[in-house]
Amino acid sequence: MRHHTRPIKLFLPIMALLLALAPAAYAKPKIVLLATGGTIAGVQPKEGEPGYKSGEVSVDQLIEAVPEIKEIADLTGEQVANIGSQTMTNDVWVKLAQRTNEVLKGDAAGVVITHGTDTLEETGYFLNLVVKSEKPVVLVGSMRPATAISADGPANLYQAVALAASPEAKGRGPLIVINDEIHYAREAQKINTTQLDAFKSPNAGPAGIFIGGKPHFLLPNDEPHTTKSPFSVDGVKAESLPRVEVVYSYANFGRDSIDFLVQKGVKGIVLAGVGDGNTTDEALEGLADAAKKGIAVVRSTRTGSGIVARNMEVDDDKLGLIASNELNPQKSRVLLMLALTQTKDPKKLQEIFNTY
Ligand code: DGL
Repeated sequence: MRHHTRPIKLFLPIMALLLALAPAAYAKPKIVLLATGGTIAGVQPKEGEPGYKSGEVSVDQLIEAVPEIKEIADLTGEQVANIGSQTMTNDVWVKLAQRTNEVLKGDAAGVVITHGTDTLEETGYFLNLVVKSEKPVVLVGSMRPATAISADGPANLYQAVALAASPEAKGRGPLIVINDEIHYAREAQKINTTQLDAFKSPNAGPAGIFIGGKPHFLLPNDEPHTTKSPFSVDGVKAESLPRVEVVYSYANFGRDSIDFLVQKGVKGIVLAGVGDGNTTDEALEGLADAAKKGIAVVRSTRTGSGIVARNMEVDDDKLGLIASNELNPQKSRVLLMLALTQTKDPKKLQEIFNTY
């Protein structure tokens, strides 16, 4: 009998060690869902009927609707807002960014943000500039409300959580998940009003796709973002962000709306210009006058893709204007607002637009 004692003595501590390690080895990544509303949380008057109200379903109901998520992550939810994203504000952005940063400082592996699709790309780009973590931040929306036949929200949410839990998503900046695709928030744009494939990344193409519920990346993200961005929301109050507005150009566009904004005391104006950030002679004169008064004026384009190049068709040097480069008007507004917290110098602002 005595010769059995030693193996048993060794066996017991090894078993105890294995049992202690087991929960850690099998622990699922902790993901925090920050809900803001949108169609993904939208409800129809009656199942199958057209028309709906976004931002009706609570974060807990969203999570309960996709029980499969429990198999891939330890998910907890917080309601940051419950709105249609057409009513998104700087206030919600600052709150959301500050909470994202707080959560990512803790033991969460990543954050998923549910959001309406209308301004999803703007929120994503704002976070791209002010989140201070390499951990995954995934924004997700849907085109059909939660109560629709064949709602796309549950599958999108499952994929968003899988992406946020994936080590491959680290260090890429905020990502957008919709319709089986992954987009870099900086590149993504809503290009359709109602269809499932409403998002494209017109200049770069999708960052990746989902295969069997798993993310597969196609493109790296070489742009400086998050921890490499100089912008921050630490201690920032939304009302302290400078007012930046967008004006839209078309045939026969005059300067009245530009002059009105100058009178209103805006700090920045973004032109949603025709073609290569162009506009009528009258509007261009209005913009140059605004720039002379110290208002930052960025030329972007309403075309939906391409690059607005400096001094191509418009003499930016002479008129004191800034070219938006790859950013569409709504994203130019986001960058200009944050950039104006650091400088008003058009040359430095141009460098910022060349970089982020
Ligand atoms: N108004 C919309 C919003 O919340 C609904 C569109 C959507 O979420 O897809 O952005």
